[in-house]
Amino acid sequence: MSNMAETGLIIETLERAGTLCPDPGPRIYKRLFELRPEFADLFVMDAGGEVRATMLETSLTCLIGIAEGDETQAMQLAANRSHHEGYGIAEDEFDIMFTAMRDVFRDLLGVAWTEAHEEAWHALLGEAAEVRHS
Ligand code: HEM
Repeated sequence: MSNMAETGLIIETLERAGTLCPDPGPRIYKRLFELRPEFADLFVMDAGGEVRATMLETSLTCLIGIAEGDETQAMQLAANRSHHEGYGIAEDEFDIMFTAMRDVFRDLLGVAWTEAHEEAWHALLGEAAEVRHS
């Protein structure tokens, strides 16, 4: 993100959400499967949840990287986007994971989630959606 204030707002929401709920994974996947029930079937082999844990960690690292303008993380995101086409996830569907994460953080913060947070996340998700291999 080019705007430092927006980056700060994103980090603030992540820190607050992390304090309120140290393991948001179950909520995030619940939200993802509410948004796209058919995705739940893709994780039946992941009985222990290791794939989901790694995927969430990578998603978070990519989002923070995009927020901070880190090119390496942008490349990582582009690579994961292409990689997931191999799992049958269309380029645009891929970003629904980020939407699910934003929704859960917003829910956790409740009234502490301001219009400025909303706008910063909207900008971040828009930016993430643009990150593709050229
Ligand atoms: C709605 C969107 C997404 C769906 C439905 C999805 C689905 C999946 C599935 C089914 C796997 C397991 C593939 C296999 O091993 O057979 C997987 C793995 C993975 N996903 Fe996603 N994914 C999504 C979004 C993302 C995003 C946004 C990222 C990161 C930017 C990401 C990162 C990863 C990583 C790193 C793995 C490998 C984890 C491991 O095997 O340890 N995914 N994803």
